[in-house]
Amino acid sequence: MPLWNGVPTIDQMDRQTIPGSNLVPFDFDRDMESVLRTWSEAGWWDDEDAQKEKISDFFMANDGRTVVGLIDGSAECVVHRTLGTVRYDQQLLSLGCVSAVTTSRIARRRRLASRLTARTVAHLADEGCAVAMLGMFDQGFYDRFGFGTGAYENHAWIYPGALAVPAPYQAPQRFDLDSDSEELHEAMASRLSVHGGVVVGGERLTAAGMRVDDDVSIYGYRTDGQISHFLAVVTTGEHGPDRITQWAYQTPEQCLELLRLVQEWGDQVDVVRLTEPVWLQLQDFIVDPGAQLRRTKGSQTGALRIEADAWWQARIVDLAACVEAMGPVDEPFSVVVRIEDPVEPHLVNSGYDGDWNGLDGTWRLSFGATHTAERISDGEPIDLETTINALTRWWLGVLPASTLVAMGAFECTADTADRMDTLTSHLPKPQPGWDF
Ligand SMILES: CC(C)(COP(=O)(O)OP(=O)(O)OC[C@H]1O[C@@H](n2cnc3c(N)ncnc32)[C@H](O)[C@@H]1OP(=O)(O)O)[C@@H](O)C(=O)NCCC(=O)NCCS
Repeated sequence: MPLWNGVPTIDQMDRQTIPGSNLVPFDFDRDMESVLRTWSEAGWWDDEDAQKEKISDFFMANDGRTVVGLIDGSAECVVHRTLGTVRYDQQLLSLGCVSAVTTSRIARRRRLASRLTARTVAHLADEGCAVAMLGMFDQGFYDRFGFGTGAYENHAWIYPGALAVPAPYQAPQRFDLDSDSEELHEAMASRLSVHGGVVVGGERLTAAGMRVDDDVSIYGYRTDGQISHFLAVVTTGEHGPDRITQWAYQTPEQCLELLRLVQEWGDQVDVVRLTEPVWLQLQDFIVDPGAQLRRTKGSQTGALRIEADAWWQARIVDLAACVEAMGPVDEPFSVVVRIEDPVEPHLVNSGYDGDWNGLDGTWRLSFGATHTAERISDGEPIDLETTINALTRWWLGVLPASTLVAMGAFECTADTADRMDTLTSHLPKPQPGWDF
C-alpha cells in the first residue's frame, strides 16, 4: 500500500541533527502580541480591543499547553491543545483536542503548522490521551497526521415562530460567564452523554471558549439550585440570524424545554441556527417544514434549511486503550493489522524530544470478552492493511469496514471486514456536542 499522499519523505536522521530550537512552548508575555497578529492575518481577529482580551483569556486559560513556531523571536505559528474526555460507547476515554492552528502570512508553507500539529499529537500521547480530535478547516491537511474524518452533523436554520415543540414554556434565567462559569462547565460535563460526546478543559476554558468568538448570551434553568440546562446564543441585529453556539441538557425533556424557549423568540427573530442533537429529528417540530424551506429559498439572510457536513476529525493515539473500550464479542478472533501512520515524518525537527513516534507498524488486535492490541514483529501473515486514519473511522463507527474496503482504505477479505463490523455495527453516530 502506498504511503499516505503528500507526506514529505524526510531522513529520520534530521530529527537528531537539526534541533527544533525555534519550535517552543508558548510564553504568554513573549508571544501573545504576535499570536494576535497571526490571528488577525488569519481573519480570526478584527483588531478590536474587546476581542483581544477574550483571545488573551483563551490562551491564559490553557495552563501552558500551547506551542509556537518562532521566527526571529516572533511567534508566527501557534497550535493549542486541551485535555478532556470522549465517550466511546459505554466508556469514557481520555481525549486531547488540537485547536487554534494558525500560521501568519509571512510564515506559510514552512511546515511550521505541520510540525507543531504533529508535536502536539505527540504531547497528547505523552499526556495519556487515548484519542485526539480537532475541527478542520478542510479535509486533507490533518489527514497528514493520521486524522480521519468524523460523521456528518445536521445544521439547521429554523424560524423559531414555526416551531411546535412538545414541552411547556418556562421563563428562563440569564447566566453569566464570570459568576456562573463553574456551574456552566459542570452542566457541560454532566450533560446527556452520547457516543462521541466530548468534555474539554475546565471551567476557565469553558468560559473563555464560549467568549472567544463573539458576544454570547446564556439562558437556561436550574434544577435543585444548580444549572442543569442552558443554551449560549450569539445574536445578530434585531432579527437574526442568531446562532446557538453551545448547549447542555441532562435529559431529552430538558433539551425540548430549551427548544421551547427558542420557539418563544419567534416574535422577533427570523432565523436561528443550531446543530441538531443526534438523538432527535428537528424537522418533527417544525410546522409545514416543506413550505418554510421553499418560501425562504434564495434569501440572503433568511433561508431556512437543514444542511449536513463533517467538520471534525479524530485519530487513535493509544491503540490498546481504544481497542479495550470496545464491547465484547461472542466468538473470539484476532486480526494482524499493518498500520500506516503518517505522523512520524512531521515530528522531524519539531522540537519534540519524547519517545512517541506514532502507531506505524504491525499489530495484533485480539477480540473476545475483553480485547488487546500488541505490537508484533513483521513476518506474520497480514489480515488487514490500513492507515490509522481509516482505522479510527471504523473504530468510532463513522464508516463500516465493508465501506472502507470498497473505498480502498482497508485491504482485507470480506470475511475479515464482516468480523470487524460485528464490533462496531451497534454504535450510534458519534457526535462531539462541543465546538473545539
Ligand atoms: C492552515 C495553515 C495553518 C497551514 O499553515 P502552514 O504553516 O502554511 O502549513 P505547513 O507549511 O505546515 O503545511 C502546508 C502543506 O499543507 C498542505 N495542505 C494545505 N491544505 C491542505 C489540504 N486541505 N489537504 C492536503 N494538504 C493541504 C499544503 O499543500 C502544504 O503542502 P507542502 O508542504 O507539500 O507544500 C495556514 O494556512 C493558516 O493559518 N490558515 C488560516 C487559519 C486556518 O484555517 N487554520 C486552520 C484551523 S483548523
